[in-house]
Amino acid sequence: MSTLTLTINKQDYQLENLDARTTLLDVCRQHLQITGPKKGCDHGQCGACTMLINGRRVNSCLTLAVMHDGDDITTIEGIGMPDSLSALQQAFKDNDAFQCGYCTPGQICSATALIEEVKQNWPSHVSRDLQNPDGLLVQEIAERMSGNICRCSAYPNIVKAISQVLESQVSESNTQSTDNSKQRSSVTGIWSPPPSEAQLGKPPANNKTVNTQTATATTGGR
Ligand code: FES
Ligand code: FES
Repeated sequence: MSTLTLTINKQDYQLENLDARTTLLDVCRQHLQITGPKKGCDHGQCGACTMLINGRRVNSCLTLAVMHDGDDITTIEGIGMPDSLSALQQAFKDNDAFQCGYCTPGQICSATALIEEVKQNWPSHVSRDLQNPDGLLVQEIAERMSGNICRCSAYPNIVKAISQVLESQVSESNTQSTDNSKQRSSVTGIWSPPPSEAQLGKPPANNKTVNTQTATATTGGR
């Protein structure tokens, strides 16, 4: 194709004659030397390549660069640099929320969008109340971050870091009553799996296949 213009971290890049089959991840890493986003699986399974496109998190290994002419793309470099860390980056540092660090750029991009989603009251697959989800619950954070895999299993501290920033940034108008606040799970450093249907107070499902499909469609849609 002729000329493609990508806006990444507020900077415009012109790409001439780019092979239309090139992914956004490969353009960043191979053509533009923006190497914060990592290639883990290259198959949309690990989240290491997560970027924000128009504020929404996307696996950049699964999307073609030519689809993003004019989009506002943010990588970890646009979220913060060593001398200007975002609150979330600082929280990851303070809470030891990484070991090898390979998944961390994707985790932080994903969590940055997560915080905005919670502020906007978006429900998740484990939300009990779709109209007023409690995004501060550990189960909510774990579910919303389920597209980002950490091979070092730094999950407890990742959840702690995100929870710390959520607590400080999510406005009180988004929180429920004081009573509900008391019911929130505190972050103890131990990751909790999403609650079972029994814990959510739902009657046992008659058709497990339907539930499995629902879960797959919900968690796989990000
Ligand atoms: S490299 Fe994109 S999801 Fe794993
Ligand atoms: S810190 Fe090593 S893969 Fe997550």
